Formats: sequence, C-alpha cells, structure tokens
Amino acid sequence: MRHGGALAQFHDLTPAEESFRDAVLGGLTRRAKEIPCRFLYDERGSSLFEQICELPEYYLTRTETTILGDYAGEIGALAGRHAQLIEFGSGSSRKVRLLLAALDEPAAYVAIDISREPLRRAAEQVAADFPEVPVVAVCADYLQPLRLPALPARGEGRRLGFFPGSTIGNFAPEDAVDFLAGCRRVVGRGGALLVGVDLKKDPATLDAAYNDRAGVTAAFNLNLLERINRELDADFDLDRFAHDAFYNAAAGRIEIYIRSLADQIVTVAGRAIRFAAGERIHTEDSCKYTVAEFQRLAGRGGFRALRHWTDPAALFSVHLLEAG
Ligand code: AVJ
Repeated sequence: MRHGGALAQFHDLTPAEESFRDAVLGGLTRRAKEIPCRFLYDERGSSLFEQICELPEYYLTRTETTILGDYAGEIGALAGRHAQLIEFGSGSSRKVRLLLAALDEPAAYVAIDISREPLRRAAEQVAADFPEVPVVAVCADYLQPLRLPALPARGEGRRLGFFPGSTIGNFAPEDAVDFLAGCRRVVGRGGALLVGVDLKKDPATLDAAYNDRAGVTAAFNLNLLERINRELDADFDLDRFAHDAFYNAAAGRIEIYIRSLADQIVTVAGRAIRFAAGERIHTEDSCKYTVAEFQRLAGRGGFRALRHWTDPAALFSVHLLEAG
C-alpha cells in the first residue's frame, strides 16, 4: 500500500495548555524550590538539548543509536510482521527510522507529541522517506491517559510502543511504573514496548555527562531562568546563579539544580522571591538503573522482560518488554 509520502492521518487531541506562570510561581514559593523539567524545553531549550546530544561527554544518544542500529534486525524479527509502531514523545522522529527500516511491513507509524507543528513537520518527513508506511501523527500529552484513534492495521500485527532516550529516567521510579502501566494499556494484549534506559555506572562518567566542559548543559539548565525573564517579566541576574548537577549514588540518580550564588530577591510576575546564598531550585532528576532493577520496574508496570541489548562498555540499555 503506497501513501505517496503524505501523512495518512493527523489527529489533534488538543492537549491542555499548561500555565508556565502557575507552575513557576507555585514551584518558587515552595519550601524546597522546584520547577518541572518539561519547562526546560522551549525553543532555545530544545535546541540546546540537541547540542547536548552531540557532546563528547553525553554518551547516551550516541550509544542508544548504535545499539538500535546494531540490533534493529533482531528487534524487527521479534516484533513480527505488520506491527503498529507507536512512539511516545516522538520529537524529531530520528531514532525511529532505524526501526522503520528494519520492521517487516509495519502497518503504521504513530507519532505522539505535544508540540503540534514540529510534530507535523517530523511526521511528514517520515512519511516522505517511508512511502510504504502509513504515518499517523497524534498531537497529545502522552503523560495523560491516552485514547488512540482507530489506527491502520494489517493482519495479526501487534502494537509496539517506543520510548527511547532514557526519558523514563525523568520519572521517579513509582511514576515510571505508572507510566509503563499506561503504555501497557495503549499497546494492549500481545503488545510490546521498546524502551531506552541509561545504566548505573561509575559516578565520574555520569557526572561528566551532566557537567560538560563546553558548558552546554549549564546553558540548557540556566535557560530556564532566561525563559522566566522573557515570558514572565522577571529579573533573574544570570551571573548570580549557577548550574549544579551531581550523581546521588544512594538514590541512583543525577540531580540537577540551579543554585543561587548570593542572598538576593528576584521579581517574577510581580512577586518577590527571596533566595538565600546556596539555595537551589530543583530542575530535573535523571534516574539510572541496572538491567535487573529496570526489569523489576517493568514487571510492576505489567510487562515481562523479553530481551535487552547493551553496548560493549555497558553504558546504556534497550529493553524489549512484552505485555504480561
Ligand atoms: C532527555 C531526560 C534523557 O536525563 O539525560 C540531559 C535530559 N538533562 N542533560 C537526561 C538532560 C541534562 C536527558 N533526558
């Protein structure tokens, strides 16, 4: 079936627009200041994150891409013929191309993302490059319970969810279980999920990945303050805050903060926010797992670990999970 390289379907599930203002004011008036990491990704933040993915210290993207490339054939064989490939948070739809090239006559590629126009562009590009594959774009918040529209189907093909990048590490483990259970509902009985997970390793390697020498990760983190200045009429002085990221070995996660370098008062949307010297805003966690730890988590989310692949240095893992 040819689709002439055009999008087969575009579904706008009109995800609710979250108030940046409410999230920031709410987070900065808490005893322990925090702002959810999803707000790091405005246009400049997204472009800085793309640069992070190319950094020598940031092994994650490069290593996952190598694993997917090396084992795409095996993954394709395990997924079986006529699979419906469903990506949660498809972004630029780059890594999925390795799978689309290896799957046996996929029935559909379903790209789910919250950013409407970037989603449309990325999905159209996949449709142009894989004219045999019906491409469906779904504008939705994949963190909310999701009801997918009727999808192009072929024969007995199963649903294969795809959640790369170790984005699952942004969830606390309990929330990761809930997210996996949501994926389990989407892929249904007989379905599967392919998920990228960063592995526990020596702290120096982890610390370096989030404290690159070029300072791109610091710029990515501090861009949050610039975004608040731009969008919420605030007056953060960027010279009086610093990027602060380290591996918390006991908790098994990278913790990322913005640290105040002085006692100071900042105005945000007309509100005075006081910072003590050394006080921090928590902006992100990135949880790391051993293979066994992640398999246990997957089990709690309703999946059975079918196979996993790692690189020779055991930096990163890709897991194929089956609905249990
Ligand atoms: C997009 C969540 C996978 O945790 O490694 C990279 C985000 N933050 N450098 C990660 C991030 C700082 C990234 N994830």
